[in-house]
Amino acid sequence: MAGAPDSSAVRIVEVAPRDGLQNHSRAFTTEAKIAFVDALSRSGLPAIEVTSFVNPRAVPLMADAVDVMTGIQRRPGIRYLALVPNEKGLERAIGCGVNSVAIFASASETFSQRNINCTIAESLVRFAPVLERARTERLWVRGYISMAFSCPFEGEIDPQGAARLAKSLLEMGCAEICLADTIGTATTDQVTGTLEAVLAVVPVDQMALHMHDTYGRAVDNIDIAYEAGIRVFDSAAGGLGGCPFAPGASGNLATERLVGHLDQRDIPHGVDRDAVRQATEALLATPAP
Ligand code: HMG
Ligand code: MG
Repeated sequence: MAGAPDSSAVRIVEVAPRDGLQNHSRAFTTEAKIAFVDALSRSGLPAIEVTSFVNPRAVPLMADAVDVMTGIQRRPGIRYLALVPNEKGLERAIGCGVNSVAIFASASETFSQRNINCTIAESLVRFAPVLERARTERLWVRGYISMAFSCPFEGEIDPQGAARLAKSLLEMGCAEICLADTIGTATTDQVTGTLEAVLAVVPVDQMALHMHDTYGRAVDNIDIAYEAGIRVFDSAAGGLGGCPFAPGASGNLATERLVGHLDQRDIPHGVDRDAVRQATEALLATPAP
Protein backbone atom coordinates (compact mmCIF):
# COMPACT_ATOMS: atom_id res chain seq x y z
CA MET A 1 0.00 0.00 0.00
CA ALA A 2 1.61 3.27 -1.14
CA GLY A 3 2.53 5.65 1.66
CA ALA A 4 1.78 3.21 4.48
CA PRO A 5 4.22 3.71 7.36
CA ASP A 6 6.76 0.92 7.76
CA SER A 7 5.86 -0.66 11.09
CA SER A 8 9.40 -1.95 11.51
CA ALA A 9 10.95 1.54 11.16
CA VAL A 10 12.48 3.37 14.08
CA ARG A 11 12.12 7.07 14.73
CA ILE A 12 15.28 8.55 16.25
CA VAL A 13 14.99 11.61 18.49
CA GLU A 14 18.32 13.44 18.49
CA VAL A 15 18.98 14.97 21.90
CA ALA A 16 22.61 16.11 21.67
CA PRO A 17 21.94 19.85 21.29
CA ARG A 18 20.10 19.76 24.64
CA ASP A 19 21.18 16.73 26.69
CA GLY A 20 24.61 16.62 25.08
CA LEU A 21 25.50 20.24 25.68
CA GLN A 22 23.74 21.07 28.97
CA ASN A 23 26.55 19.51 31.03
CA HIS A 24 29.48 19.41 28.65
CA SER A 25 32.99 20.01 29.96
CA ARG A 26 33.31 23.04 27.70
CA ALA A 27 30.94 25.77 26.52
CA PHE A 28 29.93 26.38 22.91
CA THR A 29 28.97 29.64 21.25
CA THR A 30 25.36 30.20 20.33
CA GLU A 31 26.43 30.27 16.66
CA ALA A 32 28.10 26.86 17.02
CA LYS A 33 24.97 25.40 18.60
CA ILE A 34 22.80 26.81 15.82
CA ALA A 35 25.14 25.43 13.14
CA PHE A 36 25.09 22.05 14.94
CA VAL A 37 21.29 21.85 14.91
CA ASP A 38 21.15 23.00 11.29
CA ALA A 39 23.69 20.32 10.29
CA LEU A 40 21.72 17.66 12.19
CA SER A 41 18.58 18.87 10.39
CA ARG A 42 20.24 17.85 7.11
CA SER A 43 20.98 14.29 8.26
CA GLY A 44 17.51 12.79 7.95
CA LEU A 45 16.66 12.93 11.66
CA PRO A 46 12.88 13.26 12.20
CA ALA A 47 13.13 14.98 15.60
CA ILE A 48 15.74 17.13 17.35
CA GLU A 49 15.69 18.33 20.96
CA VAL A 50 17.17 21.77 20.54
CA THR A 51 17.46 23.33 23.99
CA SER A 52 15.82 23.79 27.38
CA PHE A 53 13.98 26.78 28.81
CA VAL A 54 15.05 26.22 32.41
CA ASN A 55 16.43 28.53 35.08
CA PRO A 56 19.72 29.72 33.54
CA ARG A 57 21.28 29.81 37.00
CA ALA A 58 20.54 26.08 37.35
CA VAL A 59 21.88 25.18 33.90
CA PRO A 60 24.10 28.01 32.60
CA LEU A 61 24.99 26.17 29.37
CA MET A 62 21.34 26.47 28.24
CA ALA A 63 21.08 30.19 29.03
CA ASP A 64 21.00 31.06 25.32
CA ALA A 65 17.88 28.95 24.67
CA VAL A 66 15.93 31.81 23.08
CA ASP A 67 18.75 32.74 20.69
CA VAL A 68 19.37 29.11 19.70
CA MET A 69 15.70 28.35 19.17
CA THR A 70 15.08 31.46 17.09
CA GLY A 71 18.38 31.13 15.22
CA ILE A 72 17.98 27.64 13.77
CA GLN A 73 16.42 26.95 10.39
CA ARG A 74 13.41 24.80 11.03
CA ARG A 75 12.92 22.30 8.23
CA PRO A 76 9.39 21.10 7.44
CA GLY A 77 8.77 17.56 8.65
CA ILE A 78 11.22 17.73 11.56
CA ARG A 79 9.92 18.00 15.12
CA TYR A 80 11.99 20.56 17.04
CA LEU A 81 11.58 19.99 20.77
CA ALA A 82 12.48 22.06 23.80
CA LEU A 83 12.48 21.13 27.49
CA VAL A 84 10.21 23.20 29.74
CA PRO A 85 10.09 22.70 33.53
CA ASN A 86 7.21 25.06 34.34
CA GLU A 87 4.85 27.75 33.00
CA LYS A 88 7.65 30.28 32.76
CA GLY A 89 9.65 27.91 30.55
CA LEU A 90 6.60 27.23 28.40
CA GLU A 91 6.00 30.96 27.98
CA ARG A 92 9.60 31.45 26.81
CA ALA A 93 9.27 28.51 24.39
CA ILE A 94 5.99 29.80 22.93
CA GLY A 95 7.67 33.18 22.46
CA CYS A 96 10.14 31.43 20.15
CA GLY A 97 7.42 29.75 18.09
CA VAL A 98 8.08 26.29 19.53
CA ASN A 99 5.29 23.80 18.84
CA SER A 100 6.68 20.71 20.62
CA VAL A 101 7.81 20.71 24.23
CA ALA A 102 8.95 18.16 26.80
CA ILE A 103 8.18 18.27 30.49
CA PHE A 104 10.36 16.16 32.76
CA ALA A 105 9.29 14.27 35.86
CA SER A 106 11.23 11.68 37.82
CA ALA A 107 10.34 8.27 39.22
CA SER A 108 12.78 8.94 42.08
CA GLU A 109 11.77 11.39 44.83
CA THR A 110 15.37 12.30 45.57
CA PHE A 111 16.21 13.06 41.96
CA SER A 112 13.00 15.05 41.55
CA GLN A 113 14.14 17.30 44.40
CA ARG A 114 17.65 17.64 43.06
CA ASN A 115 16.66 18.22 39.47
CA ILE A 116 13.55 20.36 39.65
CA ASN A 117 13.37 21.27 43.32
CA CYS A 118 10.05 19.61 44.20
CA THR A 119 8.49 16.25 45.04
CA ILE A 120 7.01 14.02 42.35
CA ALA A 121 3.48 15.00 43.46
CA GLU A 122 4.39 18.70 43.42
CA SER A 123 5.85 18.30 39.94
CA LEU A 124 2.50 17.02 38.65
CA VAL A 125 0.78 20.06 40.18
CA ARG A 126 3.38 22.27 38.48
CA PHE A 127 2.93 20.50 35.12
CA ALA A 128 -0.89 20.70 35.13
CA PRO A 129 -1.11 24.34 33.95
CA VAL A 130 1.75 23.71 31.50
CA LEU A 131 -0.26 20.93 29.87
CA GLU A 132 -3.44 23.01 30.03
CA ARG A 133 -1.76 25.89 28.21
CA ALA A 134 -0.14 23.47 25.75
CA ARG A 135 -3.58 22.12 24.93
CA THR A 136 -4.94 25.62 24.29
CA GLU A 137 -1.94 26.44 22.10
CA ARG A 138 -2.18 23.05 20.34
CA LEU A 139 1.36 22.08 21.27
CA TRP A 140 2.65 18.52 21.20
CA VAL A 141 4.01 17.43 24.58
CA ARG A 142 6.43 14.67 25.55
CA GLY A 143 6.60 13.59 29.18
CA TYR A 144 9.98 12.32 30.34
CA ILE A 145 10.30 10.01 33.31
CA SER A 146 13.86 10.29 34.58
CA MET A 147 15.34 7.50 36.72
CA ALA A 148 12.68 5.18 35.34
CA PHE A 149 14.71 2.07 36.13
CA SER A 150 17.25 2.90 38.81
CA CYS A 151 18.57 5.90 40.67
CA PRO A 152 22.01 6.76 42.12
CA PHE A 153 20.29 7.90 45.34
CA GLU A 154 17.48 5.35 45.74
CA GLY A 155 18.69 2.25 43.90
CA GLU A 156 16.22 0.16 41.94
CA ILE A 157 12.95 1.91 41.04
CA ASP A 158 9.63 0.14 41.57
CA PRO A 159 8.18 -0.53 38.08
CA GLN A 160 4.68 0.16 39.44
CA GLY A 161 5.82 3.61 40.57
CA ALA A 162 7.12 4.38 37.10
CA ALA A 163 3.87 3.06 35.62
CA ARG A 164 1.71 5.23 37.92
CA LEU A 165 3.68 8.31 36.91
CA ALA A 166 3.44 7.39 33.22
CA LYS A 167 -0.33 7.00 33.55
CA SER A 168 -0.65 10.39 35.25
CA LEU A 169 1.40 12.14 32.57
CA LEU A 170 -0.61 10.46 29.83
CA GLU A 171 -3.92 11.42 31.43
CA MET A 172 -2.72 15.00 31.85
CA GLY A 173 -2.24 15.25 28.08
CA CYS A 174 1.24 14.06 27.15
CA ALA A 175 1.28 12.66 23.63
CA GLU A 176 4.38 10.58 24.33
CA ILE A 177 5.91 9.04 27.44
CA CYS A 178 9.67 8.72 27.39
CA LEU A 179 11.28 6.40 29.93
CA ALA A 180 14.81 7.54 30.74
CA ASP A 181 17.73 5.58 32.07
CA THR A 182 19.37 8.76 33.32
CA ILE A 183 22.59 7.17 34.53
CA GLY A 184 22.75 4.25 32.11
CA THR A 185 22.65 1.50 34.74
CA ALA A 186 19.45 -0.29 33.67
CA THR A 187 19.80 -4.02 33.20
CA THR A 188 17.84 -5.94 30.60
CA ASP A 189 15.78 -7.50 33.42
CA GLN A 190 14.90 -4.07 34.78
CA VAL A 191 13.87 -2.83 31.34
CA THR A 192 11.75 -5.93 30.77
CA GLY A 193 10.01 -5.52 34.14
CA THR A 194 9.41 -1.78 33.85
CA LEU A 195 8.14 -2.03 30.28
CA GLU A 196 5.71 -4.73 31.31
CA ALA A 197 4.27 -2.43 33.99
CA VAL A 198 4.25 0.74 31.86
CA LEU A 199 2.87 -0.89 28.71
CA ALA A 200 -0.11 -2.04 30.77
CA VAL A 201 -1.14 1.63 31.07
CA VAL A 202 0.42 3.42 28.06
CA PRO A 203 -0.25 2.45 24.42
CA VAL A 204 2.96 1.20 22.84
CA ASP A 205 2.78 3.76 20.00
CA GLN A 206 2.97 6.55 22.60
CA MET A 207 6.16 5.25 24.17
CA ALA A 208 9.80 6.25 23.76
CA LEU A 209 13.07 5.26 25.41
CA HIS A 210 16.00 7.55 26.37
CA MET A 211 19.07 5.54 27.32
CA HIS A 212 22.36 6.85 28.61
CA ASP A 213 25.14 4.41 27.75
CA THR A 214 27.42 4.37 30.80
CA TYR A 215 27.91 0.59 30.78
CA GLY A 216 27.38 -0.06 27.06
CA ARG A 217 24.01 -1.73 27.64
CA ALA A 218 21.84 0.80 25.83
CA VAL A 219 21.45 -1.10 22.56
CA ASP A 220 20.61 -4.36 24.37
CA ASN A 221 17.90 -2.50 26.25
CA ILE A 222 16.66 -0.88 23.05
CA ASP A 223 16.41 -4.33 21.47
CA ILE A 224 14.13 -5.40 24.31
CA ALA A 225 11.97 -2.31 23.86
CA TYR A 226 11.87 -2.87 20.09
CA GLU A 227 10.66 -6.43 20.58
CA ALA A 228 7.95 -5.01 22.87
CA GLY A 229 6.83 -2.79 19.97
CA ILE A 230 8.43 0.55 20.88
CA ARG A 231 9.74 2.44 17.85
CA VAL A 232 10.91 5.81 19.22
CA PHE A 233 14.44 5.97 20.62
CA ASP A 234 16.54 8.92 21.76
CA SER A 235 20.23 9.19 21.06
CA ALA A 236 22.85 11.90 20.97
CA ALA A 237 25.31 12.68 18.19
CA GLY A 238 28.81 11.71 19.29
CA GLY A 239 27.44 10.09 22.47
CA LEU A 240 27.42 13.51 24.12
CA GLY A 241 25.31 13.94 27.19
CA GLY A 242 24.73 13.93 30.91
CA CYS A 243 22.63 15.55 33.57
CA PRO A 244 24.24 18.07 35.95
CA PHE A 245 22.08 16.82 38.83
CA ALA A 246 22.69 13.06 38.40
CA PRO A 247 26.07 11.77 39.55
CA GLY A 248 27.33 9.16 37.08
CA ALA A 249 25.16 10.34 34.20
CA SER A 250 27.56 10.01 31.30
CA GLY A 251 26.81 10.27 27.61
CA ASN A 252 23.63 9.28 25.90
CA LEU A 253 23.61 6.37 23.52
CA ALA A 254 25.48 7.73 20.47
CA THR A 255 23.31 8.29 17.42
CA GLU A 256 26.08 6.83 15.27
CA ARG A 257 26.07 3.64 17.38
CA LEU A 258 22.28 3.36 17.34
CA VAL A 259 22.21 3.84 13.56
CA GLY A 260 24.95 1.23 13.08
CA HIS A 261 23.07 -1.20 15.30
CA LEU A 262 19.79 -0.67 13.44
CA ASP A 263 21.62 -1.14 10.11
CA GLN A 264 22.99 -4.45 11.34
CA ARG A 265 19.47 -5.54 12.17
CA ASP A 266 18.06 -4.19 8.85
CA ILE A 267 15.72 -1.89 10.74
CA PRO A 268 14.90 1.26 8.72
CA HIS A 269 15.65 4.65 10.34
CA GLY A 270 16.35 7.17 7.57
CA VAL A 271 19.40 8.77 9.21
CA ASP A 272 22.71 9.47 7.46
CA ARG A 273 25.37 8.39 9.95
CA ASP A 274 28.19 10.27 8.20
CA ALA A 275 26.20 13.50 8.27
CA VAL A 276 25.67 13.08 12.03
CA ARG A 277 29.37 12.38 12.57
CA GLN A 278 30.36 15.42 10.51
CA ALA A 279 27.93 17.64 12.42
CA THR A 280 29.52 16.54 15.71
CA GLU A 281 33.09 16.96 14.44
CA ALA A 282 32.31 20.45 13.21
CA LEU A 283 30.77 21.38 16.57
CA LEU A 284 33.70 20.05 18.60
CA ALA A 285 36.16 21.94 16.38
CA THR A 286 34.56 25.31 17.14
CA PRO A 287 36.43 27.72 19.44
CA ALA A 288 35.10 28.25 22.97
CA PRO A 289 33.09 31.45 23.56
P1 HMG B 1 12.86 26.73 41.58
O1 HMG B 1 14.02 27.40 42.19
O2 HMG B 1 12.02 25.85 42.43
O3 HMG B 1 11.91 27.74 40.80
O4 HMG B 1 13.41 25.92 40.33
P2 HMG B 1 11.26 29.11 41.19
O5 HMG B 1 9.95 29.14 40.47
O6 HMG B 1 11.31 29.31 42.67
O7 HMG B 1 12.23 30.19 40.50
C1 HMG B 1 13.55 30.43 40.95
C2 HMG B 1 14.22 31.39 39.96
O8 HMG B 1 14.34 30.74 38.70
C3 HMG B 1 13.41 32.67 39.70
O9 HMG B 1 14.32 33.71 39.39
C4 HMG B 1 12.65 32.32 38.43
O10 HMG B 1 12.28 33.45 37.67
C5 HMG B 1 13.67 31.50 37.70
P3 HMG B 1 14.70 34.82 40.48
O11 HMG B 1 13.40 35.43 40.88
O12 HMG B 1 15.36 34.07 41.61
O13 HMG B 1 15.62 35.72 39.74
N1 HMG B 1 13.04 30.55 36.78
C6 HMG B 1 13.24 30.50 35.46
N2 HMG B 1 14.01 31.24 34.62
C7 HMG B 1 13.97 30.94 33.32
N3 HMG B 1 13.23 29.92 32.80
C8 HMG B 1 12.45 29.17 33.61
C9 HMG B 1 12.45 29.46 35.00
N4 HMG B 1 11.80 28.91 36.03
C10 HMG B 1 12.16 29.58 37.13
N5 HMG B 1 11.73 28.17 33.09
C11 HMG B 1 13.25 24.86 38.23
C12 HMG B 1 12.63 25.04 39.59
C13 HMG B 1 12.63 23.60 37.62
C14 HMG B 1 12.90 26.05 37.36
C15 HMG B 1 14.79 24.72 38.34
O14 HMG B 1 15.08 23.75 39.30
C16 HMG B 1 15.44 24.38 37.05
O15 HMG B 1 15.45 25.15 36.10
N6 HMG B 1 16.06 23.19 36.98
C17 HMG B 1 16.77 22.76 35.80
C18 HMG B 1 16.63 21.30 35.68
C19 HMG B 1 17.32 20.83 34.42
O16 HMG B 1 17.39 21.51 33.41
N7 HMG B 1 17.87 19.57 34.48
C20 HMG B 1 18.49 18.98 33.36
C21 HMG B 1 17.50 18.57 32.32
S1 HMG B 1 16.58 17.10 32.76
C22 HMG B 1 17.57 15.81 32.20
O17 HMG B 1 18.68 16.02 31.78
C23 HMG B 1 17.00 14.44 32.16
C24 HMG B 1 16.57 13.99 30.75
O18 HMG B 1 17.65 14.04 29.85
C25 HMG B 1 16.03 12.58 30.83
C26 HMG B 1 16.98 11.66 31.59
O19 HMG B 1 18.06 11.33 31.07
O20 HMG B 1 16.61 11.34 32.71
C27 HMG B 1 15.44 14.88 30.19
MG1 MG C 1 19.15 12.45 29.57
